[in-house]
Amino acid sequence: MSGTNPRLWQDVPCAPPAGEFVCQTDAVPDGGAFMATFGDMPKPFRLLVVRSGSSYFGYVNRCSHFGVPLAQKIGQLILDPGKELTCNVHYSRFDWRDGRCLGGECAGEGLLPVPLEVVEQRLVIGSTNDEH
Ligand code: FES
Repeated sequence: MSGTNPRLWQDVPCAPPAGEFVCQTDAVPDGGAFMATFGDMPKPFRLLVVRSGSSYFGYVNRCSHFGVPLAQKIGQLILDPGKELTCNVHYSRFDWRDGRCLGGECAGEGLLPVPLEVVEQRLVIGSTNDEH
């Protein structure tokens, strides 16, 4: 591990503010994923959203191993619906519902969860108690 991983999603450059629109809820297939970016290239904030039924889970699309996206494009994302996400660089595995490391080069680290809220069939960035 590099030791330079951000500890909170808000510490990642270009982190969107609470209330920022992500997508319509039906843009995220049940058992599938959706990707969004905020901010400008070359280092936008990359958001990864997965869904199980009416539950949506957001993560920074950033592997804790090398700090690169788990996948650059949605079609490249390796997932086991409802169970885990796998980085397509060195195949570290992360829990679908909380982003913790399940195996591989991510021991002691994990994905950074991003709070999400559903507002009238729109998915927006949620607020957290430690957000200022
Ligand atoms: S960059 Fe993801 S496992 Fe190495």
